[in-house]
Amino acid sequence: MPAVLGADLEVPVKGGRLVGYANLDYAASAPCLEPVSAAVTAALPAYSSVHRGAGYASQLTTARYEQARHTVRAFVGARPDDAVIFTRNTTDATNLLAGCLPAGTTTVVFDTEHHASLLPWKNSVRLAPPAFPGEAVRAADEALAAIDGPKLLVVTAASNVTGELWPIAALAHIAHRHGARILVDAAQLVPHRPLNLTALGLDYVAFSGHKLYAPFGAGVLVGRRDWLAEGEPYLKGGGAVRSVGDDTEWHDDPEPRHEAGTPNVLGAIALAAACDALTATGWTALVREEERLIARLRSGLASIEGVRELSLWGDEHPRVGIVSFTVDGYSAREVAEALSSEYGIGVRDGKFCAHPFVRHLLGRSDGGCEDGTASAVRASIGIGTTEEHVDRLVEALRELVAR
Ligand SMILES: Cc1ncc(COP(=O)(O)O)c(C=O)c1O
Repeated sequence: MPAVLGADLEVPVKGGRLVGYANLDYAASAPCLEPVSAAVTAALPAYSSVHRGAGYASQLTTARYEQARHTVRAFVGARPDDAVIFTRNTTDATNLLAGCLPAGTTTVVFDTEHHASLLPWKNSVRLAPPAFPGEAVRAADEALAAIDGPKLLVVTAASNVTGELWPIAALAHIAHRHGARILVDAAQLVPHRPLNLTALGLDYVAFSGHKLYAPFGAGVLVGRRDWLAEGEPYLKGGGAVRSVGDDTEWHDDPEPRHEAGTPNVLGAIALAAACDALTATGWTALVREEERLIARLRSGLASIEGVRELSLWGDEHPRVGIVSFTVDGYSAREVAEALSSEYGIGVRDGKFCAHPFVRHLLGRSDGGCEDGTASAVRASIGIGTTEEHVDRLVEALRELVAR
C-alpha cells in the first residue's frame, strides 16, 4: 500500500493528552498519498506557464499537464475520442456539463444523489429513492420513456451516504435504449473501485482529486465530445478562443474551450499521480483490505445496541468503505464532537450534501443543514486506515451508549 501523509498526526483530546489521529472521514476528503506529494514536489522546480510559453520550463510543464490528461483517460478506461476536461472538483464538472446540454434536454435524477449531481440541471425529473436496485432500473426506464427530446440520466456510482453501489451498467443500458445519455458521478467510486467507462457504456463521468488522495484542487469531467464542443464555454477568457476581433471565435475542442485561464497544473499532476499510484498498487489488494476493514467496522457497529446503520438496499448489498449511522439518545453532532474531543477520531456528521436522501433514510420529511436532529454520523475509510482506528471507533461508541 502506498503511504499517506499525516499517518503519524497527533491531536489533542480532553485533558490535554495527545493521541494518534484516527481519520475516518475519507469520503469528505482523503489524505494525500506520498507518491502524489512526491510528484507535485518533483514538478515544482520546473513549474511554469502551460500551453503558451516557448521556454523550456513551459514546455515541460505543458507536457506534464497533457500527460496527466492521458493518465486520467486511461484510469477511467475512456474511449480514445472522449474529452478529458480538468475542473475544480465534481461539482464543477457536473455544472460544466449542465451548461452544455442541448436545448430542451430533460435530466432524470434520483433523490438519492449528492447535491452536486442533484441540483445543476435546469429541467429535471426527480425520482424517489428506489426500494431495490431493479426498481432503480425500472423507474429510470419508465421516466426516460415518457420524455421527448434530448435526455440525460444522472446517477452516482457509490452513495456518499451509505456507500452502496448502484447498478450503473444496467442503468447505462436502459438510458441508451431510450436514446438518452448517462452521467455517472464517480466521486465516491474511484477511490475504492476500478471504473471502465468504455466497458460500462457510460457517456460521462465526473470525480474529484481531493477524494482520490490528491488534495490539490483538481477534478475532472470525462466523456463524449459533441455536447461539450457545442456548449457555451464554461469560462470565457484566454485559452478558450481561437481569435478575438469584432467576433469571437471559440475553440471547438472541448478541452481548451472549457479550460480558459491558467489551469491548475499541479492539481492535474497530483490527480494523475494518484491514478498511477492506485493502479500500481492494484485493485485486488486495495479492495481486499478495504472490505476486511469495513466488515470489521460494520459488525462492530451492529454489536452495539442503539447504533443503527443507514442503508437503502439492506445489509448484504455491496458497498464501498462508507458507513452512516445514528446513535440513540445523541444527536449526530454530539456523537461527532465526543469522538473528536475524547477519542481523537475524525468523522463527519450532518446530511452530507444529500438532504433528500438522508431525510428519506431517517424517515423525516423536513430538516436542512442546521437541523441536527435529522442528521447522521458517517465513518469512511481508505488507504492508511488501520484496524486500530476501526476498533477505537467501535469501542468509543460502546462507551458513549453505556453512559
Ligand atoms: C457522490 C458525491 N458527488 C459529488 C460530490 C461533490 O464533490 P466536490 O465537493 O469535490 O465537488 C461529493 C462530495 O462529497 C460526493 O460524495
